[in-house]
Amino acid sequence: MIICKTIAEVLFFKQSLTEKKRTIGFVPTMGALHKGHLSLIEASKKQCGTTVCSIFVNPTQFNDKNDLARYPRTPQADIKLLEEAACDMLFMPSIEEIYPQPDTRVFSFAPIDEVLDGLHRPGHFNGVAQVVSTLFDIVQPHQAFFGLKDFQQVLIIQALVKQLHLPVQIVPCPILREPDGLAMSSRNALLNTEERKAAALIPKLMQEAKELSKAMPLAEIEKKLIEKVKKEPLLNPEYLLFCDAQTLQPVNDIINKKVICLIAVYSGKIRLIDNIVLS
Ligand code: PAJ
Repeated sequence: MIICKTIAEVLFFKQSLTEKKRTIGFVPTMGALHKGHLSLIEASKKQCGTTVCSIFVNPTQFNDKNDLARYPRTPQADIKLLEEAACDMLFMPSIEEIYPQPDTRVFSFAPIDEVLDGLHRPGHFNGVAQVVSTLFDIVQPHQAFFGLKDFQQVLIIQALVKQLHLPVQIVPCPILREPDGLAMSSRNALLNTEERKAAALIPKLMQEAKELSKAMPLAEIEKKLIEKVKKEPLLNPEYLLFCDAQTLQPVNDIINKKVICLIAVYSGKIRLIDNIVLS
């Protein structure tokens, strides 16, 4: 695997690609890689001649300085995993390489950036749009692979690509889970034993939301499941909502639309998200 640290090295790498290897699949990440990330690499390898992964902990998408400071960083282990996965190139830029000057661009993806994580993490999706558009500019992939664990992020990236007329196809990929159902996440490594145990309730709530939605009004399910979270001493709910899967606006029923239930919960100090599609 080739490791590039600068934009010039990426351009050199791209120029060296033969005709057969020229379709580029791209998997942007913030590192601390796990099987969820690796499933995106696999998906890219199936569809593209060359697979590029990036590892960059993007400061502009963190609205909480402590969250940025404690974000797990495991570059040596990441490189090993990517080599084993036969990734072709890893782009690992410095902050100065991506932001030689502060990025002052302000995006709007209303209404999808005004709800859920857009509401609770102000500026987060603007930072994601900044870094992903810059990375797309540098790597110029044909396809880019994103996990549906970050469902709202996938919709934002699709809107970004449309707004900027970028010639890249966004490929949404399924959520990978731990044996007890918890969605894999770099942040899971930050949970202590008790917080990790408590977090196992999250995927169970998603399953329950789906089951109950067949018979009970959605607003009542939201209340009931939030109460359930509150009863668990280590968990603190931020939101649990049923939304239209295209617009992310809240819904009261599932008639004639694709509905998704999304959740954000703190286990101790660690913020975790999950979702489930109902129909
Ligand atoms: P990060 O959290 O490292 O995730 C990188 C990619 O892996 C995202 O597309 C995410 O949805 C996907 N992913 C994470 N956990 C997954 C799981 N359990 N199953 C399937 N896919 C999973 O998301 C980001 O980084 C950043 O916001 C980024 C897009 C890189 C911009 O900085």
